[in-house]
Amino acid sequence: MVNKELLDYYKIKDMRDWKNVNASLLITDPPFGIEFSGKNGNYNRNVNNVVDGYVEWSVSEYGKKIQQLLECININLKENGQALIFSGWNNSNIIHNAIVEHKSLTLRGKLYWTYNFAPSCKKRPAHNVYEIYWVTKGDKWYFHNRCSTEHCQKGEPNLTTLNFKRDYKVNMPKYPTRLPFKLLQCLLEHFSKENDLLFDPLCGSGMMGVTGYMLKRKFIMGDLNKNGKIVFEHLLDYYLNKNSLVRDIKISDW
Ligand SMILES: C[S@@+](CC[C@H](N)C(=O)[O-])C[C@H]1O[C@@H](n2cnc3c(N)ncnc32)[C@H](O)[C@@H]1O
Repeated sequence: MVNKELLDYYKIKDMRDWKNVNASLLITDPPFGIEFSGKNGNYNRNVNNVVDGYVEWSVSEYGKKIQQLLECININLKENGQALIFSGWNNSNIIHNAIVEHKSLTLRGKLYWTYNFAPSCKKRPAHNVYEIYWVTKGDKWYFHNRCSTEHCQKGEPNLTTLNFKRDYKVNMPKYPTRLPFKLLQCLLEHFSKENDLLFDPLCGSGMMGVTGYMLKRKFIMGDLNKNGKIVFEHLLDYYLNKNSLVRDIKISDW
């Protein structure tokens, strides 16, 4: 059983309908604009477990949607708040240019998340990297230079390249593109502190809120896909009550 109050922090809501959230940190992963459905055959998983309802953005509307996302970020971040925006390679230039041209948000840098996703590698090169735009509103942002994941505990801390595996779950509904716990933990520990308010207007499975809650942050999130909230409930049950199994995927046996 999951506390109903926690579920209420996940709203079924369009990103344009948020106002004055006053968040310290926004972490979000917009749709890719590649006719993605999450059920594509190049995934190494049972598509029957993947929930429907993912709202994709068409290529022709991508620029407009990114403008709307940046406005959502601008009006819902507090002064000196910051945002981390994920992007695949396909439409990254649109996100980059839109941030650079925005009057109130400043692009401070870019991080790269490398991960295990090689289902098509046998046939052709596949991209196993996401870009993460680091954006601030104001000049006095918060940053902590050590996190407690292997990223900082092993070797030299380096915020340019984050190497984390996807933590696939079994025996529960899956959300396409769910971000892994350890990656979010690393970002949250570097860019926020306990009791900060976190926000994700495109939250999918709600993994950002799950991780934030486990790390004693507050959170509020939304998505148009009501099935995302079902996955969120299962994830909370897993992380709070250990009601499932977790495994790193075995990518390939070749
Ligand atoms: C890449 S997924 C986010 C995955 C998420 N980071 C996770 O860990 O599960 C992007 C999400 O944006 C949602 N979305 C698309 N347009 C939206 C809109 N206008 N308002 C709210 N959510 C939207 C999609 O339904 C999808 O769940």
